Amino acid sequence: MTDECFGHPRLAALYDPLDPDRTDLDAYLRLAEESGARRVLDIGCGTGVFALLLAGRGIHVVAVDPAAASLDVARAKPGGERVRWIHGDATSLPPLRVDLATMTANVAQAITDPLLWRETLRGAYAALRPGGLLVFETRDPARRAWEEWNRAASYRVTEVPGAGRVESWVELTAVRGPLVTFRWTYVFAADGQVLTSDSTLRFRERPEIEAELAAQGYTLEAVRDAPDRPTRELVFLARRPRPSKDASPVTGR
Ligand SMILES: C[S@@+](CC[C@H](N)C(=O)[O-])C[C@H]1O[C@@H](n2cnc3c(N)ncnc32)[C@H](O)[C@@H]1O
Repeated sequence: MTDECFGHPRLAALYDPLDPDRTDLDAYLRLAEESGARRVLDIGCGTGVFALLLAGRGIHVVAVDPAAASLDVARAKPGGERVRWIHGDATSLPPLRVDLATMTANVAQAITDPLLWRETLRGAYAALRPGGLLVFETRDPARRAWEEWNRAASYRVTEVPGAGRVESWVELTAVRGPLVTFRWTYVFAADGQVLTSDSTLRFRERPEIEAELAAQGYTLEAVRDAPDRPTRELVFLARRPRPSKDASPVTGR
């Protein structure tokens, strides 16, 4: 089940117009360039903004997302034919050997089920070449971002090309331990349609993520700040290790 905001065609088409500032992707782009990545897997690619930025730089990109409507938006963009789009998640990938795997814009938090999270980390590991890097961000629970998720702080009216005027706002509906649930409401002035989308995010603590990465075989390289959202995010860089010499098969028999 995908959230309506990603899976409903009318709402998937709003994703980019309602969030046009993607400076959050700059750090990921820099990392892809600095690491010399030639093949990238973008997990939870949504409407494909990052995948298309990479493809525009000549990088071979495989992009996966469970929301078909978001993938339809992505595919229809200029350059969409340069990316290999996959409807699904990291647990059902074809054989890959990428240099870099990414989860931008807090995709990690959308994967709330602990087993699915584990399987996602496993899937990314299997898709990486030995020595390849997994990079993802997650909001720091200590900052309690959900306390700002209310109608007063989020209400806005956006003129969306092709869709007309759209009112939107978010309301917090529940906080149960690490699980935070909220509802987006969208009102389309063109025909009066009101659509809502309920989402739940998991706010994981840093040690919990570090332990899961280690359990899946990753070596933690760094936990950084997101330059565009200082102190708010934890950005994990985890590497699939190269096999050590000691682990290589015995030869000469
Ligand atoms: C906030 S959007 C981010 C989209 C994109 N990464 C970006 O930077 O714009 C979160 C995305 O995570 C996707 N998602 C939800 N569950 C997922 C899962 N189990 N595996 C991969 N992606 C998932 C949603 O469909 C949605 O497209």
